[in-house]
Amino acid sequence: MIGKSMTEIFPNDLAEKYRDSIRLAAETGLDVQRLDGLIRGDGSMGSFIVYRFPITESHPRLIGGIAIDVTEQRRVEKELAISEEKYRRIVDTMHEGIWVLDTSSKIKLVNEQLADMLGYDVDELVGRPSGEFLVDDRSALVLKGKNPKDDNRPHAATLIRKDSTSVQILVSATPIYTDGGQYEGALAIFMDVTERMRTHEQLERLTAKLLSLQDEERRRIARELHDGTAQNLAAIGINLSTLKQLSTSNGRLGKILDQTRELTDTALQEIRTMSYLLHPPMLEEAGLVSALHWFIDGYTDRTGIAVKLNVSDGVGRLASEIETAIYRIVQEGLNNVYRHSGSPVAGISLERKGADVILMIRDEGRGMPNTPRVDSGVGIRGMKERLRLLGGKLDIVSGKGGTTFKSEIPLGGTK
Ligand SMILES: Nc1ncnc2c1ncn2[C@@H]1O[C@H](COP(=O)(O)OP(=O)(O)OP(=O)(O)O)[C@@H](O)[C@H]1O
Ligand SMILES: [Mg+2]
Repeated sequence: MIGKSMTEIFPNDLAEKYRDSIRLAAETGLDVQRLDGLIRGDGSMGSFIVYRFPITESHPRLIGGIAIDVTEQRRVEKELAISEEKYRRIVDTMHEGIWVLDTSSKIKLVNEQLADMLGYDVDELVGRPSGEFLVDDRSALVLKGKNPKDDNRPHAATLIRKDSTSVQILVSATPIYTDGGQYEGALAIFMDVTERMRTHEQLERLTAKLLSLQDEERRRIARELHDGTAQNLAAIGINLSTLKQLSTSNGRLGKILDQTRELTDTALQEIRTMSYLLHPPMLEEAGLVSALHWFIDGYTDRTGIAVKLNVSDGVGRLASEIETAIYRIVQEGLNNVYRHSGSPVAGISLERKGADVILMIRDEGRGMPNTPRVDSGVGIRGMKERLRLLGGKLDIVSGKGGTTFKSEIPLGGTK
């Protein structure tokens, strides 16, 4: 190549371009750096960073040049740009909101959906600390790269919008590592569940309302049966006795009056039982433990299922809403034992544990079906709801050996 001119080595148009940059370096005395296409040894066109720099200060300046072949780097860069574009397109077409954070938890990339959820433009969000928008302890761990890699299940958190209102979301965050295993940031996917939460809250409120209406209605019917129908039946009984006394001479009439009196007494007994089952008056007067004893005795008579009731000493009288809830839960639990378990026995225990009261309802039956029926009842749901209203919870353990319902109720007061 030595001794040859540009035009002898390169095609005319390229030679002209190269000559330009040499001229620039010669005239200004400054270094010129350009990314140029050059023809490589094998005849292919390559990408080069070309430096031209004056070697001497005398005129005309002698110009030196270095060309570094960056063809490969350029190819990788282009591919990366294409894959980033693809990635961007996927992220933008997803329904969920997505952001990618850098190691200092700043937003590196965010899609339109998430920007919409937050009430910002994408451009306003890039570069800002994620903590300004997300209130979530678990994601904070992910952001520090401390989250165990497999724990990216969606969980509830709150986003703070531009107008300072909050959005309930489900977020799943995953740390990102380089190929070398170094923490590089995090990616998080957000689902707006505000509407779902609102429906859920409405349902909870409705269930609570239904339960209290049901309790009120039971109490009303119980009182009417007890104070109305039962009183009338008692009066009929007295009248029948009087009639019996007046009919001493007629043996056949006396017999019929005796039978009618017996039927009236049975009906009166049934009405009383029904009334007490609907709402046991002793629950308020004598307390939960007496009411439970009374209920269990009748239950064993009706079902033949032997029930062991165990109340530990520390329990005593509890707040009336707690006593009512426990009574109703036991009632539903034992009715379930009779209807679903096939167990000949059941056990109820009530104990205090710290600031909680623990209620266990056990049976030795067949256990709950693995796949609950879609149309399955409202009994367990009602138990859960009663407990939720008291700030408590229900755990169910069920298997071949039977089923245990464990209710924990804080004594501190209602929610
Ligand atoms: N002690 C139990 N042993 C076995 N299965 C049970 C037991 N308790 C509940 N189950 C199962 O759980 C299901 C749901 O119970 P739940 O009390 O909610 O509804 P239900 O008793 O079917 O109807 P409802 O209580 O509304 O009259 C039952 O249908 C039954 O399959
Ligand atoms: Mg039930």
